[in-house]
Amino acid sequence: MTNIRLLTPDDTPQYVTIWRKALVEQAEYFRIALADNPAQDIPTRFGNDSFTLGVFSNGSLKGSVSIERDSRIKFRHKALLFKMFVDGELAGKGVGRALITQAMDLAAQVDGLRQLYLTVLASNRRAIHLYTSLGFVEFAHEPEAVLIGDSYVDEIQMVHFLNGKHSEKILNT
Ligand SMILES: CC(C)(COP(=O)(O)OP(=O)(O)OC[C@H]1O[C@@H](n2cnc3c(N)ncnc32)[C@H](O)[C@@H]1OP(=O)(O)O)[C@@H](O)C(=O)NCCC(=O)NCCS
Repeated sequence: MTNIRLLTPDDTPQYVTIWRKALVEQAEYFRIALADNPAQDIPTRFGNDSFTLGVFSNGSLKGSVSIERDSRIKFRHKALLFKMFVDGELAGKGVGRALITQAMDLAAQVDGLRQLYLTVLASNRRAIHLYTSLGFVEFAHEPEAVLIGDSYVDEIQMVHFLNGKHSEKILNT
């Protein structure tokens, strides 16, 4: 049985374990390297505008996604969606879609928050398909942004406006 809930500090040991494994075994999907941050603690505060959701299967953490609102006065309408991952054993079953949908629903309830943005490697067709199907649109494309192994990979930045209107505008221009 799978369930999705907000992570608390008590979930840190499981979180650290799955992310250390993911960053090594699926390094080609991530812009961060384990060596840059070996601790891999839960990266967000435990509030309503900075949180990490986890998906559990039979009590074990199998994936997560984080939302971090910008705290600066002039940027508080924006939040970063990052560190999205679902364990391979659950992949392709709609779990990633459920996880990010719940994160978006929680973000939509945050007063004054208008947009979610994210960065994804241009080679990650599966994640781009998922984000696009949920209303994220590309607004920037950085060539050769990341060095993965001995290949330079482009990065795409995407945005989702929580009221929907601006995303339609970007798509129509
Ligand atoms: C990306 C990821 C989170 C998706 O999680 P998931 O549980 O497998 O996703 P879902 O099953 O909910 O949906 C996957 C969607 O991608 C589609 N998909 C699967 N493989 C695909 C591929 N190679 N190319 C394009 N789309 C693909 C599926 O058909 C599905 O779309 P649909 O609902 O329209 O049919 C997960 O695969 C993952 O953790 N990947 C490695 C880490 C990663 O890439 N993280 C994102 C970093 S930005």
